[in-house]
Amino acid sequence: MTFIDPKLVPKFKLSSGAEVPVVGMGTFGNDRFTPEQVGAAVKGAALAGYRFFDCAAAYQNEPDIGEALASAMAEGGIPREELFISSKVWNDMHGRGDVLIACAKTLKDLRLDYLDGYMVHWPFPNYHPPGCARDYRNPNSHPFLLDEFMETWRQMERLVELGLVKHIGVSNMTEAKLRAMLPLCRIRPEFNEVELHPGFQQPELFDFCQREGILMIGFCPLGSPTRPARDKLPDDVNVMEMPEVVEIARAHGVHPALICIKWAVRRGHMPIPFSIYENEYVSNLRCVTEDPLTDAEFETLTRIDTGRRIIKAQNFLWPGAAGWENLWDLNGEIDCTGWKG
Ligand SMILES: NC(=O)c1ccc[n+]([C@@H]2O[C@H](COP(=O)([O-])OP(=O)(O)OC[C@H]3O[C@@H](n4cnc5c(N)ncnc54)[C@H](OP(=O)(O)O)[C@@H]3O)[C@@H](O)[C@H]2O)c1
Repeated sequence: MTFIDPKLVPKFKLSSGAEVPVVGMGTFGNDRFTPEQVGAAVKGAALAGYRFFDCAAAYQNEPDIGEALASAMAEGGIPREELFISSKVWNDMHGRGDVLIACAKTLKDLRLDYLDGYMVHWPFPNYHPPGCARDYRNPNSHPFLLDEFMETWRQMERLVELGLVKHIGVSNMTEAKLRAMLPLCRIRPEFNEVELHPGFQQPELFDFCQREGILMIGFCPLGSPTRPARDKLPDDVNVMEMPEVVEIARAHGVHPALICIKWAVRRGHMPIPFSIYENEYVSNLRCVTEDPLTDAEFETLTRIDTGRRIIKAQNFLWPGAAGWENLWDLNGEIDCTGWKG
């Protein structure tokens, strides 16, 4: 097994001063891989030198990941403090008292005493069952409501005060929603996990988060080529097939995946690529320790943003909404189109 010394992996600094490796591992097996397969990959990745793992209760594999981490720590002599284990509270656990229960379950499943990171997975409690169809709609769904979200956030803050979580963050937050929540925080989010890859760069949100000291974590950093058909639309961008990505990959003699990762790290956000295959996850980590992009390559990749997101999240729409665009506050204000509540 290849070992990449975690000391050689560059770090990003969180606003609290804590450090995280510039690349982490995603753990969403989707409907392609079993929890056991994802667990085996997490163990392999930890033994190969990964130190950041992006988990979530909604991925339905935290018990397997807990077993994998325990076994990797024992076999590899990895001290707990070297790991940064992050998870997320799912949409059906935003209610009063529920966040604590959700966190306790995740801690138990992951076999941990504390989490390094914990995020609110989506900024509303709109629930959809795992693996549901593209046109599934929950009649109880509604837009982002600041007071309701802050009740959830207060519980996140409480988890830090209780010592159960070290750093809290958000996910799928727009600038409009962040602007609304930040002045009300006792403890500010230290990261915002959103879709980011060369084909969808979200430059305004990135700049805003940088100014606010919030680290961006990029999900689907390779464009999630193997996502389920229900999440694919004909005009979606195929990031690893974009000509500029392919050409730069050829110049470096590597797979286009590694160019997407190098670009993210050079830009200053943390990619969390997923793979269960050892050759892939090892190369996804190793690539940030060698052969960086040239300035010209970085500039070229920065110019290929299409502004088109892959993960539209249409399952979270509320009754009366016009389309998935309403979830993303495209006009810079919290979008409640069609909401009669
Ligand atoms: N916060 C959120 O709402 C949210 C939403 C979505 C995802 N996420 C997180 O982000 C993570 C990553 O997103 P993702 O899994 O959808 O997409 P991704 O990382 O962009 O793409 C994953 C796919 O890329 C391929 N791949 C990985 N490394 C490769 C390499 N070195 N060479 C060639 N192909 C490679 C793999 O395909 P093969 O399996 O065919 O090799 C893998 O299935 C998730 O696992 C999850 O942790 C978070």
